[in-house]
Amino acid sequence: MSAPLPPWYDDLAGTLAEGWAQLVRGAADRRHPCHTITVATAGLDGAPQLRTVVLRAAEPSARRMRFHTDARSRKVAELEADPRIAVHAYNPAAKIQIRLWGRATVHREDEVAATAWARTRPFSRVCYRLAQGPGTKVPDPSTALAEAGEGPEAGREAFVAVTVAIARLEFLFLASAGHRRALYDWATGGQEASWLVP
Ligand SMILES: Cc1cc2nc3c(=O)[nH]c(=O)nc-3n(C[C@H](O)[C@H](O)[C@H](O)COP(=O)(O)O)c2cc1C
Repeated sequence: MSAPLPPWYDDLAGTLAEGWAQLVRGAADRRHPCHTITVATAGLDGAPQLRTVVLRAAEPSARRMRFHTDARSRKVAELEADPRIAVHAYNPAAKIQIRLWGRATVHREDEVAATAWARTRPFSRVCYRLAQGPGTKVPDPSTALAEAGEGPEAGREAFVAVTVAIARLEFLFLASAGHRRALYDWATGGQEASWLVP
């Protein structure tokens, strides 16, 4: 027997709420499949670039999400050249895929960065202490782990928070009764919601 259909199956507003709920849970729970997301940028040569990052916050009312990274990373250079960003999240057990498009802001020294850093645990801060930026070629992988400093604030200069202002969200749910795909587009001011052919 197939699984019972969710209450939001034929409900555009409910489907959007479920999409946000997946992201909010993903940010809060490191065991949730949406805890890691795939982030796409336009490379400096125009070629697409993808990588996994940890989803740190999802705020439905502000239509915003946040992740953390190293200021010296390629993705930061790419986002500073072109802030357009796409994000992918997938929950295999729930059979839900979420795709998002928006504009990224890189926070280095502002309140957003300061608050995010203050909430970052010592274990996570270690990643930002490396003497050389991520992606630097090294002759020996063990030398890459040389740390630039010590103490709880070491690594702060390399830490950035990236917020994404979401302009468009696409939701896909796979079901034997019929897949459901929905689009929510805020780019034109209001919210345009529509079912799509899956
Ligand atoms: C499970 C997982 C979680 C990751 N989380 C982050 C993260 O939160 N921030 C980050 O900058 N890189 C994270 N990475 C590493 C990135 O995928 C990527 O390799 C790195 O950021 C360099 O990307 P770039 O060269 O495109 O900037 C994670 C990788 C994995 C596999």
